[in-house]
Amino acid sequence: MSDSLFSDAELVSTWLERHFASEDVAANRLLEAMAYAALNGGKRLRGCLVISAGRCVAQITGSDVRMDNLLSIAGAVELLHAYSLIHDDLPAMDDAELRRGKPATHIAFDEATAILAGDALQTQAFSILASDELAIADDVKIALVATLARASGVAGMAGGQMLDLQAEDKVLDVAEIRQMQDLKTGALISASVLMGAQAQGATDEMLAALASYADKLGYAFQIADDLLDALSDAEQLGKPAGRDAEQNKASLVSLLGLEEAQQITVQLAQDAEQALSRFGSAADDLVALARFAVNRSY
Ligand code: IPE
Ligand code: IPE
Ligand code: MG
Ligand code: MG
Ligand code: MG
Repeated sequence: MSDSLFSDAELVSTWLERHFASEDVAANRLLEAMAYAALNGGKRLRGCLVISAGRCVAQITGSDVRMDNLLSIAGAVELLHAYSLIHDDLPAMDDAELRRGKPATHIAFDEATAILAGDALQTQAFSILASDELAIADDVKIALVATLARASGVAGMAGGQMLDLQAEDKVLDVAEIRQMQDLKTGALISASVLMGAQAQGATDEMLAALASYADKLGYAFQIADDLLDALSDAEQLGKPAGRDAEQNKASLVSLLGLEEAQQITVQLAQDAEQALSRFGSAADDLVALARFAVNRSY
């Protein structure tokens, strides 16, 4: 990541630490599990996308960047993402014992606590968006809530996770894999970009270009994750490697092979970049994030 993106990721992590610091986490096992899952690192890509999209729109429209609002939205998205990871690792789903270099939440605590921590992280994300903490007009807040809700539910992440699990017993074609990836991963990535832009008053035209960028980025990001599962190791990833093949997960890697899947990510990152060409240098951070999404080693 470039220096400015690295510092955005740090800001998001600091925001999350402060968020939990206002509570007596040690006195409440559920809060403790929530903080464990949310604070133990992560690339903070979704949070960075919120901030970079917001900055891009502010630069084009000549408005001030509302970093306080963007950080609250970034924090909310990261809490929702942390929930999705806790549930993804449960024995009933991917049965993964390691996450972000530490025991998964259901291992560090127990399964019931992990399920509840996921539930409560999800509702906390929406509480933040609806709260006074966000100095944004009510109609924009409602739009943010609607964007995140859609991206998380049956037409988004949860729906995609269902397709991912159902696909363990069958062979998907390229179009079906794309649909699964768009829902399970792309939807929340797109929501991150759109929410940052919405918070800074993006026009419909700007939102359309950003949506096109995010659509390609989200797909590329999940293919890169699937490539890393096949090519890397648990120490590098901070999560189990090689499990997708063992669990018969559907992916472009299993369908087309490593080389073709890799080529597709490179093309997608270029297409994502192209979608933002009209924004010029205002989109530099977003372009850097698209490159990071496919060139990363973790
Ligand atoms: C992991 O997401 C789950 C996927 C959608 C591939 P990340 O790779 O963004 O996980 P963290 O937040 O950096 O740990
Ligand atoms: C997870 O995809 C997508 C989510 C919605 C959490 P994976 O199952 O491939 O993510 P990792 O590899 O466990 O992080
Ligand atoms: Mg999974
Ligand atoms: Mg998984
Ligand atoms: Mg994976």
